[in-house]
Amino acid sequence: MPVPLLDLRAQHARIREKVVAAMMKVVDDQTFILGKQVEDFEREIAALSHTKHAIGCANGSDALLLSLRALDIGAGHEVITTPFTFFATAGMTHNSGAKPVFADIDADTFSLNPDAAAAVVTSRTRAVIPVDLFGQMSPIERYRVAMPSVPVIEDAAQSIGARRSVDGEWTMAGEMAAIGTFSFFPSKNLGGYGDGGMIVTQDDHLAKRLRRLRTHGAIKTYVHEEVGFNSRLDTLQAAVLSAKLSFLSEWSAARRRHAAYYDEAFRDVTDIRTPAIDEANESIYNQYTIRTDRRDALQAHLKAKEIGTAIYYPIPLHLQECFAYLGYKPGAFPESERASKEVLSLPVYPEFAQSRQDEVIEAVRSFFGR
Ligand SMILES: Cc1ncc(COP(=O)(O)O)c(C=O)c1O
Repeated sequence: MPVPLLDLRAQHARIREKVVAAMMKVVDDQTFILGKQVEDFEREIAALSHTKHAIGCANGSDALLLSLRALDIGAGHEVITTPFTFFATAGMTHNSGAKPVFADIDADTFSLNPDAAAAVVTSRTRAVIPVDLFGQMSPIERYRVAMPSVPVIEDAAQSIGARRSVDGEWTMAGEMAAIGTFSFFPSKNLGGYGDGGMIVTQDDHLAKRLRRLRTHGAIKTYVHEEVGFNSRLDTLQAAVLSAKLSFLSEWSAARRRHAAYYDEAFRDVTDIRTPAIDEANESIYNQYTIRTDRRDALQAHLKAKEIGTAIYYPIPLHLQECFAYLGYKPGAFPESERASKEVLSLPVYPEFAQSRQDEVIEAVRSFFGR
């Protein structure tokens, strides 16, 4: 039987009754746009993220674009980010009118390296966007030291509920940055039944501006203080996500168990590097990503056995054709380029049965002659 990379149907089967009831309430009430469920869900995410405000929006990409606009970032400005991330992080920077400026990642954790980021700050720098990749937080507190005057937009699209110990206290993804952004794309640990996004902040003024920007800059109906966007979180999605939220910590804990099981099973396989989780972090393992020099052959071997895998991300963003205008050449960011050649994500979804995981482990080990 094939082993999928992710099995959303297995998850839905378990929660179907609760989710369908929540959706039908919206359908029966006919409150599709900014209904009560959006407000409720915003409160729930603010509580989870230890932030004063949470503002729903249409998707995680818009969450970034709205955040850049709320910080008045646009033409003539520069935004520093990582080339080893999903396209949206740099794509939305471009769409804001600002210039994406890349800096390399940390060799082990895949996080943007704060010192490398600080080295490319100029008088035009207006923000830095570290990405909480694959489920573990970036070292947000280090930006305060490395580049204290530059606001941090934390792209936590893949890391809702992830936490990091700072000075002995747990801090949540989105909590320490000027603005944190989440995606509810279906494959995320908290995935909607369609697109969705959220922005969190501790700042009252930014929160007010973000609410305005997501509804065409309107302060009330037909009164526009500025030009914004149509980027609201759909009430149906908010209802689904609220219903799913009570399972999130259980699901993320299951992912951590599967990750630990892989780590143990691959301990003696010297051709593999298992994911490096910064010791201050508790990852939610949106992905379990190994590294190996023989990545493409391993992926082909697993495909032949009908085991789902994925490469996040095969082309670092500074080498994407659309960013040729930025002038980066191959070799500019060696750690990101190396990661793109070596990474392979394996199934780690919560409902993954141990017997199926044993099949994946056996297939990987046999590829390396173990
Ligand atoms: C790191 C990162 N940033 C931004 C996004 C964009 O989110 P969305 O797909 O909801 O627009 C994603 C998700 O796909 C992501 O993984």
